Amino acid sequence: MDWDTIIIGAGAAGLMCAAHSGGRTLVLDHAKKAGEKIRISGGGRCNFTNMYCEPANFLSENPHFCKSALSRYTQWDFVALVDKHGIKWHEKTLGQLFCDDTAKDIVALLVDELQSAGAQLQLQKSVSNVQNIEGGFLLTLDDGSRITTRNLVIASGGKSIPKMGASGFGYDIARQFDLPVTEIRAGLVPLTFSNGDFKSISGTAVPARIQASRGPSFEEALLFTHRGLSGPAILQASSYWREGEEISIHLEPNLDIYETLRNKRTSSGKKNTTTVLSDILPARLVEFLAPQLDLKGNLADHSDIRLQEIARALTDWRVKPSGSEGYRTAEVTIGGVSTTALSSKTMEAKDVKGLYFIGEVVDVTGWLGGFNFQWAWSSGWAAGTAICSSL
Ligand code: FDA
Repeated sequence: MDWDTIIIGAGAAGLMCAAHSGGRTLVLDHAKKAGEKIRISGGGRCNFTNMYCEPANFLSENPHFCKSALSRYTQWDFVALVDKHGIKWHEKTLGQLFCDDTAKDIVALLVDELQSAGAQLQLQKSVSNVQNIEGGFLLTLDDGSRITTRNLVIASGGKSIPKMGASGFGYDIARQFDLPVTEIRAGLVPLTFSNGDFKSISGTAVPARIQASRGPSFEEALLFTHRGLSGPAILQASSYWREGEEISIHLEPNLDIYETLRNKRTSSGKKNTTTVLSDILPARLVEFLAPQLDLKGNLADHSDIRLQEIARALTDWRVKPSGSEGYRTAEVTIGGVSTTALSSKTMEAKDVKGLYFIGEVVDVTGWLGGFNFQWAWSSGWAAGTAICSSL
């Protein structure tokens, strides 16, 4: 065999795996540079992990699958690696850890670890064919060259952001080896509305709690855009939303809107209802909602029951997105290579010796907030250390 291990994909998971797989390891990627998604992540500062990372922060058909890798290579292990490289970091919010300076520091860290481990990285290499041979795999590259390897690790990510080199390659390889692939769809993605519902208030942001018809609710900022709804609360809920379903918006979740309106009726009853509501919600949003909520008249004109109706409309505002922005802008792909086919300890395919799947290509998807990178680090580490000890 030419190599002990070939890893396809020099992203977060592949680079991490290469740093631990030992022996003669080669990483191949069709992109011009390694770790491009890391570079653009977190607004250029890379939200590299989350202090509160736990299995509940992940979606998968088997919610237990991620436990082994996450518990053996934790967020604190990655923080220790970041510290070892002298990279300064901070918590932004909700346990989300970002680089103080630039996401490029994380790419440099990974390439440095890969080189220290003696692994090689070859960019602008496309694999056109993979074949199972005695004791390993034969890879044919686009330039016609052929290489053999004992172990093959698929770390080619999901389908999100095709213009950055994302492809369905990993799913095709899984299918070629008869491994099941779950339904895939765009996640952590803005939701769209066909009739330009929110165009007039695009740019308006408000604290909200968003609940899709399944999954937990998410309390963070909601942003109205010319295409629909975005902001962290919507991106989180989008991973649980399915086409044709409604989402519920609870505006200003930390305020008791009914009680606030009742109190204001006593102190400012002669004021226009929209004026009073504009003290607690963005004025443009109140103006937008006024016709639907029939907010005519002064606050004193409204009975308790009417105030309750207004409060209910603002705390369980139902909207039905027509779609999402899709893979073009999605941060992740939900679903992937079925965990039923893989060992949760090593990430190796149960029925194909030497074939491993790690990172986003697997049916394990994190919430927004550093969880997807943590899955890439943990699953990459799990496969890498398993390969190393098998050599
Ligand atoms: P990743 O996509 O990183 O790498 C796959 C690699 O495989 C790529 O280098 C690609 O070129 C290569 N490849 C694909 N097909 C190939 C083929 N056929 N042949 C050869 N190479 C091939 N997560 C997080 O935790 N915190 C954050 O701040 C962000 N921010 C963020 C911003 C944006 C804009 C996006 C799109 C995504 C994020 N994410 C994130 C998600 C995170 O980037 C993602 O989950 C990980 O990069 C997944 O790591 P992988 O290594 O699995 O795939």
